[in-house]
Amino acid sequence: MTKFKLAAPCIFGLESVLSGEVRRMGGENVTTTDGRVTFEGGKEMIARANLRLSTAERVLIELGSFKALSFAELFDNVMALPLEEFIDKDDAFPVKGHSINSQLHSIPDCQSIIKKAAVERLKNNYHTDWFEETGAVHQLIFNIIKDEVSIYLDTSGAGLHKRGYRRNSNAAPIKETLAAGIIDLAKVRLFDKLVDPMCGSGTFVVEGAYKALNIAPGLRRSFACEKWQQSDPAVWQAERAAAVEAINRTKEFKALGFDIDPHAVDLTIENARKAGVGSKLSVCEQDIRGFKPQKGAVTICNPPYGERLLDIRQAEELYKVLGEKLSPDKESPCFIITPHEEFEKFFGKKADKKRKLYNGMIKCNLYMYFK
Ligand SMILES: C[S@@+](CC[C@H](N)C(=O)[O-])C[C@H]1O[C@@H](n2cnc3c(N)ncnc32)[C@H](O)[C@@H]1O
Repeated sequence: MTKFKLAAPCIFGLESVLSGEVRRMGGENVTTTDGRVTFEGGKEMIARANLRLSTAERVLIELGSFKALSFAELFDNVMALPLEEFIDKDDAFPVKGHSINSQLHSIPDCQSIIKKAAVERLKNNYHTDWFEETGAVHQLIFNIIKDEVSIYLDTSGAGLHKRGYRRNSNAAPIKETLAAGIIDLAKVRLFDKLVDPMCGSGTFVVEGAYKALNIAPGLRRSFACEKWQQSDPAVWQAERAAAVEAINRTKEFKALGFDIDPHAVDLTIENARKAGVGSKLSVCEQDIRGFKPQKGAVTICNPPYGERLLDIRQAEELYKVLGEKLSPDKESPCFIITPHEEFEKFFGKKADKKRKLYNGMIKCNLYMYFK
């Protein structure tokens, strides 16, 4: 059976969470670097990873890696890759990527050299001078770090944070993959109740229900490589069936969402329904000032940062109220993500642990209270 070298990029700070997911799913030879987990597996692993990984941004096949200090080296090494094993005569093969601290720093130039090398390789294989590129998309991705080039083929298509349930979002939604990572760090699977007192579009409550009930986040969408000629529909069918089989339908679980904004409440209800977890959810309009702490529940929230929503003073005032309302302990832990450096001062309690995480470009801390 053909084994592939696979790579799954993730949000900085979630590497250990993702590598745990990959191991549990049966990935082999798992290694972790900054913002990326690499592993090995056959075609069933590509399907499984796309369907099940909740914190991966996408699943890539590594076609090759090499050192390149000149465009000639880049061209020759790309031309040596077995692209025809994946890309058929009519397929589209766009190129994108990035370069950090490297001699070859011009992205458009790297893009065009890699494209030219790929065309040259495929021309020799398919004996044609022109590629229509009307077929399935095989996105080539290059990643150049300190002159080390890696060339990947993207199997996912749309980023894996696009689960297919959140067509609507409020002003400052948290990315699904980041929410899933926080849910994992908060060990939501060990609880039967999750609370988000400022739920916005409901990402935490939906991702929490997914994790608690072991629902694969990719079950409601399709993936780019399913359209490839080499795709084996039987493998995808089997992996989808296994993921459905693995859902824990008997687990007692309830997610409670609250928000001061009635529009957010409607959004959460709609998104949870689309995600197929509407029956596990109860949402209501409520100011945090009226919040009643829930014993035995894990509380997770992403309060306004004082940037897109509210100003900084109002955000600080909310952190104070949160601190008055929440009394975290071992049975009722609490996890709050914010970029505010002095969050603990306003919340009134020192976190048991902090973890640096990026919410988009914003450097945040996850303040963890669990003792
Ligand atoms: C950053 S958003 C949360 C985004 C959410 N995690 C999501 O993924 O969509 C903060 C939310 O806090 C809500 N909020 C602001 N002030 C509040 C208050 N006093 N009580 C309850 N919710 C409040 C806002 O309406 C907004 O939906």
